[in-house]
Amino acid sequence: MNLEEIRADFPVFRNEPNLAYLDNAAMALKPDCVINAVNDYYSKLGVNVHRGVYRLSYEATDKYEEARKTIASFINASFEEVIFTRGASASLNLVASSYGLNFLKPGDEVITSELEHHSSNMPWFEVCKKTGAVLKYIPLDEEGRITVDAFKSVLSDKTKVVAITYVSNVMGYITPVKEIIKLAHEKNAIVSLDGAQAVPHMKVDVKDLDCDFLSFSGHKLCGPTGIGVLYGKSNLLELMPPIEFGGDMADVVTTTSQTYKASPYKFETGTPIIASALGLAEACKYIDAIGFDNIIFQERKLRKKAVEELEKIPGIIIYNKSCETGIISFNLEDVHPHDAASVFDNNDVCIRAGHHCAQLITSWLNTIGTVRASFYFYNTEEDVDKFIKAVKDAKNFFSSF
Ligand code: ALA
Repeated sequence: MNLEEIRADFPVFRNEPNLAYLDNAAMALKPDCVINAVNDYYSKLGVNVHRGVYRLSYEATDKYEEARKTIASFINASFEEVIFTRGASASLNLVASSYGLNFLKPGDEVITSELEHHSSNMPWFEVCKKTGAVLKYIPLDEEGRITVDAFKSVLSDKTKVVAITYVSNVMGYITPVKEIIKLAHEKNAIVSLDGAQAVPHMKVDVKDLDCDFLSFSGHKLCGPTGIGVLYGKSNLLELMPPIEFGGDMADVVTTTSQTYKASPYKFETGTPIIASALGLAEACKYIDAIGFDNIIFQERKLRKKAVEELEKIPGIIIYNKSCETGIISFNLEDVHPHDAASVFDNNDVCIRAGHHCAQLITSWLNTIGTVRASFYFYNTEEDVDKFIKAVKDAKNFFSSF
């Protein structure tokens, strides 16, 4: 992997040569090919899909559906199993609203965890309130991980849904989802995975995992904002009712009846997210060309160096020392994470601070929030050096009070 060549693909690095961008868990930067795909659509086509009976519309439709094929193949899904949504949050909500509200009854059980992003657990809290189903939490181990044994302790004959994260956005832990899915299926429960922090960083194969649903966002995968994907097994999607009604999803509409198209169109109401779908397909090709082996190698190398350096600084609390992905969650003793973040900003180091939309794990850690650095393949050892310098600056600054 030639880092210099890779970084040259990213206009933000050309415009901000001194930036250490370590907020990749919130959003990945975009390479030229993604920006060009969006720009090309608007400048060379610029028309709607599925509707126009003219050349440009046919061409736009072909490109849009070709993008779906590329994204389906990226996760080893079939074409009709890939639904475009606004983002991972919308995908996770779609599963809860369509599957959860229609197939759960009082006394059924839904399993989730305290490691979830709000978009993964909150929709099920609402579903349980409305259906009378019971929400159960997997007890986390002493490091804050979901283990197979802990999952078994809450799994029962009443379990109907398991809604869990594949990779935590705060702790970066990889959940042993394959074993969990197998156990859930033995009880005839379905599994909805939050893959927002997994799909950009490791090969995710929905057939190999055998998950029922997988949600992820485009923007964390070097793709455009405003687009996400819901993968669902086709037999489940067939049973599920749409949650939005209107243009493009309708089949036959009369004053007394209405029918809907098959998946994926049944769940994509209105003019689709055309430009962002084309951009996301380019992002998938770009990530494939980089290769997940290279991505994993670079993220872990940088994280290891950063943790080793952090451990040399007194008064730093690291919450996820054993994490196997590119995320470090930490605090400076007696310093509010937002205060620390402002010193990072003064050093041109972008990190995220706060509860990261995951208040359950923040409470579990017994803190008000954390500082989070998250690496991606385009980060460098110099980024780590800038990050460590910013930690030292923050520490010096706040110890003078
Ligand atoms: N969910 C994103 C994060 O963890 C935005 O920062």
